[in-house]
Amino acid sequence: MSKEKFTEILSSTGRKGMDAVIAKLDESGFFDAPASSRFHLSCKGGLMEHSMNVYEAALFVREQIIQRRPELEEQLPLDSVAICALLHDTCKTDIYKEGILSRKNADGYWEKYVGYQVDYNTGLPLGHGEKSVILLLSWGLELKPEEMLAIRWHMSAWDMPMQSAEHKESFNAAKAKSPLVSLIQTADGIATGLLER
Ligand SMILES: [Fe+2]
Ligand SMILES: [Fe+2]
Repeated sequence: MSKEKFTEILSSTGRKGMDAVIAKLDESGFFDAPASSRFHLSCKGGLMEHSMNVYEAALFVREQIIQRRPELEEQLPLDSVAICALLHDTCKTDIYKEGILSRKNADGYWEKYVGYQVDYNTGLPLGHGEKSVILLLSWGLELKPEEMLAIRWHMSAWDMPMQSAEHKESFNAAKAKSPLVSLIQTADGIATGLLER
């Protein structure tokens, strides 16, 4: 998986503001960032690889769903799928710091290793999906309303217990408004729980 292929897919959407977004991703370290501190793809380039896995999973699921529900095709346009899948975790670009950490090895002895720690003091601590949406808009990307919903709510079950009743209602309304919300959320789960386990 290369940065060139990643940016080529983003550019191919022809979306207004995408050139600025690609420049910002580059500048903010997106392409070198890990996908997590110690769970899935905790390695250099892990965030880009995870985003690509979500994209491929979303394309696969979309294909299967359209075969059974052809009327959903126009609500799942390919440019929206690419934008939401590849950019849903933009919020993670600046929160992982590389450093020397300690862990117990298989023999029970402490050892040092190079790893990542989460640091929410960098950049704007705006949350998760909502942070991705705000960053992308502030960088000048023209996002459609249903794309904002899909990116904002992609964590679903993972952060839903933390949300207020009002947020839970919003999440249900978002899912009802656009099938893109369920597609991106499902693809994120497939990538994290199956492809990257
Ligand atoms: Fe996420
Ligand atoms: Fe993700």
